[in-house]
Amino acid sequence: MIKVGLIGFGKAGQAVAQVLQDDPRYELCWIARRSAVAAAPSSAGVDVPMATLASADDWDQWLDRHPVDALVDFSSPESLHLYGEQVRRRGLMLVSAISAYSEADLAYAHSLAAHARVLCSPNITVGINFLIMAARLLRKIAPFADVEIVEQHFREKPEVSGTARKIAQSIDVDENRITSLRLGGIVGHHEVIFGFPYQTVRLIHNSIERRAFGTGAAFALAELAHCDNGFYTFDDLLMRMVRKELLNPPAK
Ligand SMILES: NC(=O)c1ccc[n+]([C@@H]2O[C@H](COP(=O)([O-])OP(=O)(O)OC[C@H]3O[C@@H](n4cnc5c(N)ncnc54)[C@H](OP(=O)(O)O)[C@@H]3O)[C@@H](O)[C@H]2O)c1
Repeated sequence: MIKVGLIGFGKAGQAVAQVLQDDPRYELCWIARRSAVAAAPSSAGVDVPMATLASADDWDQWLDRHPVDALVDFSSPESLHLYGEQVRRRGLMLVSAISAYSEADLAYAHSLAAHARVLCSPNITVGINFLIMAARLLRKIAPFADVEIVEQHFREKPEVSGTARKIAQSIDVDENRITSLRLGGIVGHHEVIFGFPYQTVRLIHNSIERRAFGTGAAFALAELAHCDNGFYTFDDLLMRMVRKELLNPPAK
């Protein structure tokens, strides 16, 4: 069983904690957050110790007393610099979902990967990453097809979905091919439509709730456990699995 420490217990972290706690492959050992005043983990149905780790020394002492095999980060870009040297020194697996790393943060994460398995993914759901992989493949197969991207979100979301922009970028489609609809309480809907002369293909992903982030983190941990030290994206892990499972089918 892989022993995991979770960093961040906000909107995403609480959902991720529930998934990791319920997954028999993992032992969620503790959760680190910034403030001690916020709600106890039990308030989100999670029953593990809580730490407030404000400095690199705090991290060193905490990990001596509460060792784990892996860290999962749903906090903020700054925390990487507090625990990073522990990843390097202890060879901890790291799954970071932080979406807003700077170039310098990412360079630092890359430097840790010489000593540990490090995954950074600004989008950690299995479904969206699979959709992007499938869309890229279809784009290669049918570069002549028309492509449109539709994203639908709750009424209050002001900006174009970052995920839709990432999809456009990944399949080399201009961002003005994205149509945004704002409707009621839709959590998140992304659709890539391929218009062929005599057929249409639609790739659709619907977000249901934040626990999907936990499913993604659990997938990443399971795959990373079989990888060598190095820096990985979610794509890398999916492609590794495709190569293993689909391109080398078992002999009949
Ligand atoms: N890759 C993805 O698909 C994906 C999906 C969802 C979220 N995220 C990322 O996950 C992060 C959290 O999102 P959220 O919506 O859950 O935000 P949030 O509700 O604001 O929660 C942030 C959490 O991080 C904790 N935190 C912040 N700085 C910390 C530090 N230095 N050390 C320890 N804990 C720290 C906060 O502690 P306190 O509770 O004490 O304030 C809080 O629990 C963001 O970076 C977001 O981009 C990524």
